[in-house]
Amino acid sequence: MQSSTRFGYRAREMTIANMVTPRIAILISGRGSNMLALLEAIVAGRLNAKAAVVISNVESAPGLEAASKQGVETLVLSHKEKTREEHDRQVIAELNTRDVSLVCLAGYMRLVSAEFLRAFHHRVLNIHPSLLPAFPGLNAQEQALRHGVKITGCTVHIVDEELDRGPIVLQRAVPVNDSDTVESLSARILEQEHIAYPEAVRIVLSEGFVVDGRRTRVANQS
Ligand code: GRF
Repeated sequence: MQSSTRFGYRAREMTIANMVTPRIAILISGRGSNMLALLEAIVAGRLNAKAAVVISNVESAPGLEAASKQGVETLVLSHKEKTREEHDRQVIAELNTRDVSLVCLAGYMRLVSAEFLRAFHHRVLNIHPSLLPAFPGLNAQEQALRHGVKITGCTVHIVDEELDRGPIVLQRAVPVNDSDTVESLSARILEQEHIAYPEAVRIVLSEGFVVDGRRTRVANQS
């Protein structure tokens, strides 16, 4: 029984050739600054991965042009007039065509279906601008300010069926200043997001990464 496998059934199919440079996909709906942070980490050699494709469900997403400028293939797959399952099936087909082994949601404003999560078991990541489980959902930075917390941050986690609840890979803390507005706090969290996401992807792609219930770790590292 392989409840804590690295990439589920796919891991067993991997050959040395396709493990050398894992192929990742980045799903966006908007600005795409986290997407760019991932692409920059790849270009800089800090992340051993190939960006196989950037997919947006929104045609006007500014991140699409930014990805093209980096020479990465982009696709628009609109969700309009489709059920979630129909849309996700289309996305899954495009990912499989490109032999993608890890999917990074980066400001992707869609819930993914159970079918998507089955197709990419433990291989869908998301970044969220709070220290989960605090402040899930929309406007996390505003929620943090309203609550009056003194420390917030960002979380990269594995996506499961529940919104912003999956096993956590990495978190970075950001202090809240007395003078903070939603904008100033969001900007400081975003800086940390751009560090956290490439680092989390590196961890997930590293040899020995395991998901054990709610906990994740790299085996042989304490
Ligand atoms: C980020 O704050 C991310 O944490 C959240 O959506 C925002 C996306 O920003 N999920 P960007 O498109 O990556 O610039």
